[in-house]
Amino acid sequence: MQNIQVLLARRPNGVPVPDDFSVRETPVVQPDTGQALIENIYISLDAGFRNWMDEDAGDEVLPAMPLGQPVMGLTVGRVIASKHPNLPLGQLVMGRLAWESFSLASDDFLVPLDDDETIPEHYHLGILGDTGMSAYFGLKDIGKPSTEDTVLISAAAGSVGYVAGQVARIMGAKRIGGFTSSEPKRQRLIQEVGYDEVINYRQGNLDEQLQAACPNGIDVYFDNVGGAILETVLSQINHGARIPFCGAVADYNSKTPSGPGNLFMLVTQCVRLEGFLTHTKLERYDEARQQLKTWMNQDALQTFVQEYQGVDQCGIAFSDLFAGNNFGKTIVKV
Ligand SMILES: NC(=O)c1ccc[n+]([C@@H]2O[C@H](COP(=O)([O-])OP(=O)(O)OC[C@H]3O[C@@H](n4cnc5c(N)ncnc54)[C@H](OP(=O)(O)O)[C@@H]3O)[C@@H](O)[C@H]2O)c1
Repeated sequence: MQNIQVLLARRPNGVPVPDDFSVRETPVVQPDTGQALIENIYISLDAGFRNWMDEDAGDEVLPAMPLGQPVMGLTVGRVIASKHPNLPLGQLVMGRLAWESFSLASDDFLVPLDDDETIPEHYHLGILGDTGMSAYFGLKDIGKPSTEDTVLISAAAGSVGYVAGQVARIMGAKRIGGFTSSEPKRQRLIQEVGYDEVINYRQGNLDEQLQAACPNGIDVYFDNVGGAILETVLSQINHGARIPFCGAVADYNSKTPSGPGNLFMLVTQCVRLEGFLTHTKLERYDEARQQLKTWMNQDALQTFVQEYQGVDQCGIAFSDLFAGNNFGKTIVKV
């Protein structure tokens, strides 16, 4: 059997492009003691992994990705050979593995999943995975929208954002606004996902657009991007607002973080800004998944998936996340 792998061919210079990645075929390696061989079924493309592509990028979450090696990413797959006591043949797993058709794995970063025919495997990477649960935890634990609240969400069409928009609606928020990068995405967010108003941050005056979209100010800002957009939102934030700080995609391609410069607004408006990491909340995954599934069964929560075919497409799919070409959860079917 051959393993098709997508490698980090060079370190992206700012925004990633498909030529930063290359494809190779190599024989599949059989597992050693304590390892299992996973046949990857779907690969998740997540803007956050851009963080570990720079030379000096390693941190307490992950090491910097080595050049010439398969790109790290989340996958869902099945055990097809095993010398690991807790990973039997046929076990479905979700893990931090790599952009490749077969991965060797031990316990690290691996979560066994229940087989459930009613749930497509890729839901474990999206709506019932890290991104869907991030929307849930951010709003349930930090945002806590009330029926009088305006909720605003950045990267509204991304994998976290499109779920957060719907969860805010389910939780009863009065008005739901978002940010995105193009008119077609803006229209889809309003017509298909149910946002009340969406701002195209690449056009016009951001401050004026925000005032028009959220005339009563912002009570909950679910932030996925940080930077200049966060600064603009802070300038119009309401007293007592909450900011679940989920990510800072505006800074992932930059060597110099971009602000904001008006953090004192947190003090004068008594705002709670709190960062969180979903993968540290393993003990609450059942709660989050059960709630998200219930809302899906009630048709209150829809899934939007952008699927690419073939592991060799990972570099293109990943670059599309930064070029404004994605809508919903981006996955590659291996
Ligand atoms: N805290 C956690 O546990 C956790 C878990 C998962 C993800 N995250 C973070 O959550 C955020 C969203 O992730 P995701 O998976 O939803 O996104 P995604 O599906 O990977 O898509 C990335 C989105 O970012 C937007 N974007 C790209 N460049 C941008 C820029 N320069 N300024 C503003 N927006 C930009 C794009 O939307 P537009 O085209 O509309 O701009 C795109 O939809 C990321 O920061 C990610 O790291 C955090």
